Amino acid sequence: MLKQVLRYPLWLGELLTGSKSFVANPLIGSRRLNRWGLHVARVVLAHGVMRLRMGVLSWRVPRDDRRQFIEQGFVIKTNFLPEAEYRALVEEVRQADGEVRQCCQGDAQTRRMLLSPEMLVDMPRARAVLRAPAFRRLMRFCAGHLRMPICHAEWVMNGVSDAPADPQTHLHVDTFQPTMKFWLYLEEVSDINGPFIYVPGSQRLSRRRLAWEYAMSREAKTHADRYTARGSFRVTPEQAQALGDAPPRAFRVPGNTLLIANTFGVHARGGAEPGSSRLALWGMSRTNPFIPLPGLGFEWVNRLQYRVLQRQRREQDKRAAARDVQASWHRIDADDAWPRNASADRYGEHG
Ligand SMILES: [Fe+2]
Repeated sequence: MLKQVLRYPLWLGELLTGSKSFVANPLIGSRRLNRWGLHVARVVLAHGVMRLRMGVLSWRVPRDDRRQFIEQGFVIKTNFLPEAEYRALVEEVRQADGEVRQCCQGDAQTRRMLLSPEMLVDMPRARAVLRAPAFRRLMRFCAGHLRMPICHAEWVMNGVSDAPADPQTHLHVDTFQPTMKFWLYLEEVSDINGPFIYVPGSQRLSRRRLAWEYAMSREAKTHADRYTARGSFRVTPEQAQALGDAPPRAFRVPGNTLLIANTFGVHARGGAEPGSSRLALWGMSRTNPFIPLPGLGFEWVNRLQYRVLQRQRREQDKRAAARDVQASWHRIDADDAWPRNASADRYGEHG
């Protein structure tokens, strides 16, 4: 009991962070507080602050990109890199020799290689993409923060086991605050390997969305869906229809397409054929949405975020090892952990 009381200041403090779980924090999950509008207040405040920060970071970001991101919730750019650069990047990422970690969700395996500053020393092509000034400005605007997103190379493998479907294939929102994720696809994305699905306009804070957030906040804590209970609300097709401007859109796109999305909007990973996979550069940014300043943007802060993540992963490894289980993002060292020797054809070198 005393332990509980002592934790209240911590839980109270978490209200002013990106904490989202209705189960882990009894204040966030409190029925009474949410009836009084706690969750909705956090949503509204987070959005107000983010818009302010995005406004500050809009300098020299093309107007069309800004408009798309704010009105539709995504920016899409095909033929993002000149062809020769794109091909060289694909090859560099495929041959990259970093630590590969894997997370299994349902029947999908997501493998990621962290593109830390140290890793990028040996990856000039990826470094050039991620450090290009126009790219950085766009990232910072969409993230509403000067700190760059944490970037990985990502290889998603679909239908690798008999487990139930990947939970990411259900329409959902990631959290209560605007969150930016990007993919630079390094191969074609189709219904075969699972396109990203997004409901255009569903990221806007409409009256309808607020009413939905309010209703969800009152039942989230005891919701049968554990992702919903943890603050990542699942969305039914009917709700998705009501929250957006248009039906869910599947982004079937050629390789060399950059897609940036606000995952406060309704989205999912599209269904894919078993045995298929896709390779991309992937990154995300989720910062404290209640601090009205867009950060400092120093390179050391950027480096630090990679160190922190690496340390967290090692801690998780240790804790998992102590319980004789695998960490949710566990290392894999197998020869085929990364698509180094996959058919070159598939990645477009010859076609
Ligand atoms: Fe998501």
